[in-house]
Amino acid sequence: MDTLKIFDTTLRDGEQSPGASMTREEKLSIARALEKMRVDIIEAGFPIASPDEYEAVSEIAATLRESTVCSLARALDKDIDRAGDALKGAVRPRIHTFIATSPIHMEQKLRMSPDEVVERAVDAVKRARNYTDDVEFSPEDAGRSDIDFLCRVVEAVIDAGACTINIPDTVGYSLPVQFGERIGQLIERIPNSDKAVFSVHCHNDLGLAVANSLAAVLHGARQVECTINGLGERAGNASLEEVVMAVRTRQDTFACDTNIDTTQIVPTSKLVSSVTGFPVQPNKAIVGANAFAHESGIHQDGVLKYRETYEIMRAQDVGWSDNRIVLGKHSGRRAIMDRVDKLGLEVPEEELDEFFARFKELADRKHQIFDADLRSLVLEEVEIRDTGTYQLIDLEVTSKMGTTPVARVTLEYQGEQYSAEAPGGGPVDASFRAIEEVVHSDSELQLYSVNNITTGTDAQGEVTVRLSKDGAVVNGHGAHTDIVIASARAYLVAVGKLAQEPAMHPQLDHI
Ligand code: KIV
Ligand code: ZN
Repeated sequence: MDTLKIFDTTLRDGEQSPGASMTREEKLSIARALEKMRVDIIEAGFPIASPDEYEAVSEIAATLRESTVCSLARALDKDIDRAGDALKGAVRPRIHTFIATSPIHMEQKLRMSPDEVVERAVDAVKRARNYTDDVEFSPEDAGRSDIDFLCRVVEAVIDAGACTINIPDTVGYSLPVQFGERIGQLIERIPNSDKAVFSVHCHNDLGLAVANSLAAVLHGARQVECTINGLGERAGNASLEEVVMAVRTRQDTFACDTNIDTTQIVPTSKLVSSVTGFPVQPNKAIVGANAFAHESGIHQDGVLKYRETYEIMRAQDVGWSDNRIVLGKHSGRRAIMDRVDKLGLEVPEEELDEFFARFKELADRKHQIFDADLRSLVLEEVEIRDTGTYQLIDLEVTSKMGTTPVARVTLEYQGEQYSAEAPGGGPVDASFRAIEEVVHSDSELQLYSVNNITTGTDAQGEVTVRLSKDGAVVNGHGAHTDIVIASARAYLVAVGKLAQEPAMHPQLDHI
């Protein structure tokens, strides 16, 4: 039985989803969750994009011990050197370098001849080999590249030392039958193909990213590049959970399996959804809230009699747990931390006191603390640590039918308190305006959403606020049983994050 390697690119291609930017701390917590899930390779970022991106890759490289940490680089010396430097602390470093090979990209974007592209690709791989033996090469837009030219480039880069060849369907144009055959042909026609692992990286523009990836696996690909919740550029990438569970569930068809601990799938999906502010649609396979819910009487009856009548997977195998009442105000520290651990979350030692204080404050307001409440509390802790600039000290909002709501806010910044008052269209609008009177972020509100974390009128509302300024886009989250307070917190977290540098888009500015 072969191993199918899982290469997760949530932190790189996933972050290219408009609005899905993540801070360094958030990336680190996702990287830890991916390692716990036993992802083979984690693409941590594109270090040339910004100093912050470089730091994020370095930190992930220095932290992870099991998964390979991969760093993306265009086929340019400066990119490769930066990627190599960022990986210095890694136990298992990989450099992933790419250049486009389709006629349209070579002519219109790169303005390079095919010969120049081959030369640049070979040079890039050789340079990357100075930093690590583990070098991956991608012919960008391979789905639309000429097959003969693709064979020529790939043969040359394998000779130059690439040991993984990743075939991207960059624009999501391929159909499963063609894409699978293309992979089979490359493996068959390239004389040194046995010296490399063939990988695929499919985009979902036609909704075929998972189907194309699986077709490729059936034709010999042994690495799939994918993201949690299918996040990624435009319509996204192949979703990790769907690829992994398709291969695991259909072992009658696939001659390989992954190393993934599938019980970590749902917790990681929830983490990524909270961090990015991208909700998971209820009917999404594997990780959607309804993925294992049976509504029709006939189905319910069947499942109760014999589960396999309507279920091909077990909910607990992918990490769904009953959203039980697990904790309350009398729960001890050990019970709380045990639950945090079971949910695949972490709170650093030095932040435990503050975390327990916030738990207690929540438990005083809300008697029953569910898993989802705990998850949100931990995520908020990560954000406060990350962006702890302004603290919300007090918020008072008056709202009465027929009058204009008014908010009064007091914030603390570096030990000083500042108050302001503002009217607004509603209580949330008034609160944001009052906060702006103090912080003057001059940002634009791009998204405001509220989701109830659990059910019931005493549930916490989880608010996501997306702000943009000068091309930078950030998300802030806040959770509280009072959604106006949750909103104010989320707004302040986003304002804090705006201070961080925006990342350059890897495929905008190629050479
Ligand atoms: O979609 C793509 O082609 C990419 C490459 C960088 C592999 O993301
Ligand atoms: Zn991509």
